[in-house]
Amino acid sequence: MEQTFIMVKPDGVQRGLVGEIIARFERRGYKLAGLKMFTVRREVAEIHYGEHREKPFFQGLVAYITSGPVVAMVWEGKNVVAAAREMLGATDPQKALPGTIRATYGIDIGRNIVHGSDSPESAVREISLFFKDGEVLTYDRAVDAWICE
Ligand code: RTP
Ligand code: MG
Repeated sequence: MEQTFIMVKPDGVQRGLVGEIIARFERRGYKLAGLKMFTVRREVAEIHYGEHREKPFFQGLVAYITSGPVVAMVWEGKNVVAAAREMLGATDPQKALPGTIRATYGIDIGRNIVHGSDSPESAVREISLFFKDGEVLTYDRAVDAWICE
């Protein structure tokens, strides 16, 4: 089953939005497969956001993501990578559709609350960057037959 990597960024943790974000994924029906809290180390942040290394905002982005604890999660379910990106909304909260997490809780592109993998390939890479073997769990949920046929 498809999995995605979702991370509540330091601003989301500081603002008390962890529960709101988890609740949206739970209520939609996605399955939580991994969850932990830590502060991202600079070297890991530079790998995670490596695609942006040459961008003018890179140093600020690394400073932001390492500035405090994050809550990292693996969510699982049908088409969860693309669906999660829609639930997050556009990168810039000013451009995000109403009702999305970023439009509901954010104002600024540099404080956009939450990260989500942009493709199934990125999800595999990011999950293995942030979670060790055994930290992503496989289990059955009785409710699954009521979520997808
Ligand atoms: P993310 O990786 O954090 O889920 O965000 P994203 O895919 O929607 O956007 P991406 O292009 O990957 O950018 C990564 C993060 O860099 C910050 N950013 N700042 N100042 C700027 O122009 C700018 N552009 C991007 C944002 O925090 C964005 O989430
Ligand atoms: Mg991205």
